[in-house]
Amino acid sequence: MKIAFFDSGMGGLSVLHHARKILPQEEFIFFADEDNVPYGTKSPEEVLRFVDAAFKFLIAQKVSAIVVACNTATSVAVKAMREKYSLPIIGMEPALKVALDTFPNRKVLVAATAITITGKKIRRLIERLHAENFAELRALPRLVEFAERQEFKSAAVEKYLRGELKDYDFEKFSSLVLGCTHFNYFKDTFREILPAHVKILDGNAGTVNELIRRADLKETAAQSSLEFFYSGRRVTDTAELARLEKFLRRLDEMEAIE
Ligand code: DGL
Repeated sequence: MKIAFFDSGMGGLSVLHHARKILPQEEFIFFADEDNVPYGTKSPEEVLRFVDAAFKFLIAQKVSAIVVACNTATSVAVKAMREKYSLPIIGMEPALKVALDTFPNRKVLVAATAITITGKKIRRLIERLHAENFAELRALPRLVEFAERQEFKSAAVEKYLRGELKDYDFEKFSSLVLGCTHFNYFKDTFREILPAHVKILDGNAGTVNELIRRADLKETAAQSSLEFFYSGRRVTDTAELARLEKFLRRLDEMEAIE
């Protein structure tokens, strides 16, 4: 069966990267909405329009399940897409529950986009987990820009993150939850800045487990495959494929960091 992974840009590759390890026999499509990235700084109405167009395209490709590998798109549009389409649609959820289950009564910093941290979905998650006194939210929009231009490790990335994180008393925090899939490219810099006891958690394993639960994966493909699309255009250009490969190699390096 063909499974689509969808993101505003290259962040969703981190979820796909994990999925390919767990499900090496599947056919995958990766759709990056490169014409419209970033989503996180736009209005929810605009993002809903972008997601709607991407879904129309993916449904026409006859995919059997869609993973919305984007916290922002999940926050804004997953409910509407589930009302419209009957195929399994798997969204992202910041790994706040994992953090609180592992380290009860300790603070958690959730880093995400502006849309995600101001959205109803995260508020409801915090209420459901009774985490009002433990969850702190922070938007880190520039990381999306750094990731898109493959500036994974630089003095500018480090300066930005040190500035954004300087006011937190991390002695009170158990973990940093990456609530935006683009942030996975910066785990090494986060690791250098944060004290050793602060764990870095992402939602990738949770999302892939949910995909396995929800999609009927019995029919494995004879041969695994991966196709890339930028806002509906198939990527075949060698230079672009090399760019995508560079993202995947970066994710190989970031995988073990926690
Ligand atoms: N990768 C996305 C997320 O998980 C969105 C980043 C953006 O486009 O602003 O939130």
